[in-house]
Amino acid sequence: MKEVKIETHLKVYDSINDLPQNIQELMTFASQARLNAYAPYSKFLVGAAILLDNDEVVTGNNQENACYPSGLCAERTAIYYAGSKYPKSKMLKLAIIAGSQEGQTNRPIPPCGSCRQAILEYEIKQDSDIEIYFMGTTGKVIQSHSLSNLFPLGFDRSFL
Ligand code: THU
Repeated sequence: MKEVKIETHLKVYDSINDLPQNIQELMTFASQARLNAYAPYSKFLVGAAILLDNDEVVTGNNQENACYPSGLCAERTAIYYAGSKYPKSKMLKLAIIAGSQEGQTNRPIPPCGSCRQAILEYEIKQDSDIEIYFMGTTGKVIQSHSLSNLFPLGFDRSFL
């Protein structure tokens, strides 16, 4: 038996104001998209914005359903839209902002496991990293240089 240690490296910014200007802009797109979320059941609103290598920004938000599992997270709404509209473009950066409809959420909200699995697929498809930034509605912003950094031992096509 041997023990294996897996390390993750993240950057933590104290606030959105400390981000580089282009990331602040991307986060603002995510924040605007969040306001269009359809979340009557959880009242938890999430917005996502993806910067592509063709300079387009694609946004998404969570879309819920009375049959709960039929709803979709903001990140997958955005990533599938980007994949369907610009299949040849690489996704460079993803900004995520999330929090309750009632009051502020002062801690960074990471993408759920299903969204990580979906994002991983596109990193492999395009053979390059997607830089990820996530935050609550206020407070700190966490940056990961790649999805794989947030999702060790992910399942991918190499296992098929
Ligand atoms: N949600 C997202 O949009 N992204 C995540 O990564 C976590 C959860 C949504 C799904 C649901 O509409 C609401 O937040 C509460 O789970």
